[in-house]
Amino acid sequence: MHFHRRRGWEIPEREATPRHLVLNRRALMAAAGAGAMLSAEAQAQWLFGGRSGSPSDPWARNPGDLPDLPEAMRNPRYQPGRAVSPERDAITFNNFYEFGSNKDIWPTALRMPVRPWTIRVDGMVEAPGEFGVDDLIRRIGLEERVYRLRCVEAWAMTVPWTGFQLSKLLDIVKPLGSAKYVRLETAQVPPHMTGLRQTWYPWPHIEGCTIEEAANELTFMPVGLYGRPLPPQNGGPFRVVFPWKYGFKSGKSLSRITLTDQRPKSFWETLQGNEYGFWANVNPDVPHPRWSQATERLIGTNERVPTRIFNGYGEFVADLYTNLQRERLWA
Ligand code: MTE
Repeated sequence: MHFHRRRGWEIPEREATPRHLVLNRRALMAAAGAGAMLSAEAQAQWLFGGRSGSPSDPWARNPGDLPDLPEAMRNPRYQPGRAVSPERDAITFNNFYEFGSNKDIWPTALRMPVRPWTIRVDGMVEAPGEFGVDDLIRRIGLEERVYRLRCVEAWAMTVPWTGFQLSKLLDIVKPLGSAKYVRLETAQVPPHMTGLRQTWYPWPHIEGCTIEEAANELTFMPVGLYGRPLPPQNGGPFRVVFPWKYGFKSGKSLSRITLTDQRPKSFWETLQGNEYGFWANVNPDVPHPRWSQATERLIGTNERVPTRIFNGYGEFVADLYTNLQRERLWA
């Protein structure tokens, strides 16, 4: 088996060979040991699952397994300032390592059952609980927001999400004064998440933010996009989005949210902390160690446009960071 010793997002996605692997030395040996016993075809099957019988429609699911979303008004406060990305691109060009490390994981992801689905909210809160996604939708209500999404790989999209502010969920569970951080954990759903077989990754996928970032009005919990239920390849049924941070912070298919006084160490920080840190705020003037972040390529048109500080959301979030100048805010 031929492994490239390549780290996450080592090169821009347009140059990345599919299925690039993140391996440290120990993991490389473990993976090579496991892989040596399999034929090339069996290795691909083992790692990434089969493609036989792949659906052709990236929205298609079993009839009746997802309720339609209730009506959601578009919130005019968040103007993207550019055209919405083509729907098909947004739902077929994805990063979701639990399903594999290439961009076309949607046929595999689409098969993951997303009902019933509950999310546990616990830790330093007055009222911890296990919430059904549909109960939360009914209880909180939905709105649509069109946000810019900037991936650390220097591509970007503009996506209409349907969901609710994370702060509304926090209001339900009532954080204690001692809570300083929010840890966001992605579900592990074998056998659907075939990427979990890449045991050298530090599963589960964890992301995190400060309690102030979680309470910010921009922090959004999508359950839909383009007016339809969020498909698994985009993090269905329930994910988080921080539009001012690089996209890898926006954890998908969440199963648990924990309020804590300990700063969570994220999946990518564990793998490559010098390149993918805790804060990861978008900044065109701070290059990734191996490429520039000055511009971004719009998926759909391929147009290259200048990147903006905080992905253009500075008016909403810049004051979160005024006393944190010693932190590595941009990586
Ligand atoms: N969440 C989990 N659990 N696993 C992942 O691999 N990839 C991240 C983020 N959330 C990822 C994840 C990255 S790198 C990006 S750019 C966005 O999801 C992509 O979201 P999209 O596929 O909906 O565009």
